[in-house]
Amino acid sequence: MAIKSPKELYRHATENHYGLGAFNTFSWETMMAVMEAAQAAKSPAILQVSMGARKYAGHFKEYVDTLYTLAEQYEVPFFVQHDHCGTFEACREAIEAGCQAVMFDGSHLPYEQNVKETRQVVEYAHEKGVWVEAELGCLPGFEDLVFSEKAVYTDPDLAARFIDRTGCDALAVAVGTSHGGVRSEDYLPLDFELLEEIVKQKPDYPFVLHGAASLPPKLIDACNRQGGQVEYLRNCSEESIARAVALGVKKVNMDVDNFLVFTTAIREFFNTSPDVYDPRKYLKPARDAFRMEVEHKMKEVLNSAGRYPEVKERSREAQDKKSPCAGEGIL
Ligand code: 13P
Repeated sequence: MAIKSPKELYRHATENHYGLGAFNTFSWETMMAVMEAAQAAKSPAILQVSMGARKYAGHFKEYVDTLYTLAEQYEVPFFVQHDHCGTFEACREAIEAGCQAVMFDGSHLPYEQNVKETRQVVEYAHEKGVWVEAELGCLPGFEDLVFSEKAVYTDPDLAARFIDRTGCDALAVAVGTSHGGVRSEDYLPLDFELLEEIVKQKPDYPFVLHGAASLPPKLIDACNRQGGQVEYLRNCSEESIARAVALGVKKVNMDVDNFLVFTTAIREFFNTSPDVYDPRKYLKPARDAFRMEVEHKMKEVLNSAGRYPEVKERSREAQDKKSPCAGEGIL
């Protein structure tokens, strides 16, 4: 099964009323965490790579090739998407590297400019059979390498016209989520009325939520108990994101919760085993924590778990035996 087209997976999500989770990967551990979570949850997933991950990992084309090679080892379906490309050039590079879908982020541009540049990306990408996600409206917080202070919510009429004029295949909308959280006493409210208005404009169209990790205070507590000093920023709750999926959102991007648990696992290992210096010993629990968080999102937020019931269970021990991180001894 492994690799499917974005069109096929979105159709499956629409027919079965769930959201596709899109998770950014940046290393062997994170690629495997997402794929193992998907396999265990019998859920599809979108394997993402961002500009930041591209810089971090280097060898971009080889990185994308590795995603495909590894994905072929699993029975659940995936597709590979490049997250937030700020320019046509970045999209072109992503397409050349073999991504099946690209996100062109013109959300910080004036509307007409966003239409024009998105249209240009769509024309180029469609010729190569590549799916294009665009964005209208602005989320507060860091979006990969770009910071935005204010939220600009998406206007439903403009969104419908934007889709018609650009031909984009999916559209990320701003309805209350934020990238990486903001300072607030409580979870941020998601504007469900606005979301319903947007979805009503084009029922079954692939609308997307970015910035949909929830930063539950308990995850920050766990990290800070291990010596972290992570600020208690807030985002929309998992219940809100699950409701947005029930209202018709088809793709949900969430990363920071996964990053947080990954770091907590490493901190905990360093605190409990200060004498150990084999990196595999702490990257393994970090990878497991990332995997469990992704699995949790598939089960509790996306409603995507169990959508591929024919997928066979794999025992964790069998998986671990194959794992490159589980080696005993130092070499
Ligand atoms: P969060 O990590 O804030 O959920 O955002 C993920 C995202 O939208 C990536 O494009």
